[in-house]
Amino acid sequence: MHRIVLALLGFSLLLALGQSSSLFTPEEQKLLQTAGKEFYTALAEQPKDQALCSLYKNKLPADQLPGFLQEQRAKIKYPAKLMGDWKRGGAIFNDMAKANCFSCHYGSPVHWGGNVGPSLEKYGQRGQSEAIQRYTYEVIYNPWAYFPCTVMYRFGVHGLLTPEEIADVVAYLLDPASDFNTKPAATGGQ
Ligand code: HEC
Repeated sequence: MHRIVLALLGFSLLLALGQSSSLFTPEEQKLLQTAGKEFYTALAEQPKDQALCSLYKNKLPADQLPGFLQEQRAKIKYPAKLMGDWKRGGAIFNDMAKANCFSCHYGSPVHWGGNVGPSLEKYGQRGQSEAIQRYTYEVIYNPWAYFPCTVMYRFGVHGLLTPEEIADVVAYLLDPASDFNTKPAATGGQ
């Protein structure tokens, strides 16, 4: 009995997934089904964008990209000012229990950074134009708007940081007076 209910539930999830999502073509749905019911059910419980990343192992097909990027961009909310206070931003960037940016990125003068992501050393040398502020803010709020399926946390989308906190981190990276740009990146056994 239990099993039948579960099977029915699984089946209706399949249907719901198929219907609610124009993102999955009939071929993809077949592909999903061949991977087995459990995989399909697990996928159905994920948000659609996460499910796409799982399905395509982080390599979205070209025809899916424009729609995906547009949806990710639409999730971004903005603060009054894109650049906040670099000192507050530094505390956020370098706190393992907060943003933990340094664990993946080199360039912090406080902690020896990791290399999961690209080096951000002297990031402020890119300039402080509105376009650069916006790019930096958007990448932190929702990296999937630029790098679909990347492992970088989607800080704004998942509520890990508020828009104002993200603006503070943007200032930490971009403000020419910020320690991030005036002090050397930490290396060695720190
Ligand atoms: C789990 C690892 C991880 C964490 C944590 C992380 N990032 Fe990233 N970040 C990445 C990766 C990987 C990329 C490159 C995107 C790609 O190619 O997939 C990236 C890209 C970026 C970029 C764009 C790089 C460029 O040169 O234009 C910026 C800016 C950035 N991250 C800033 C941050 C900030 C600020 C934080 C903390 C609030 C942070 N990241 C936390 C992994 C991470």
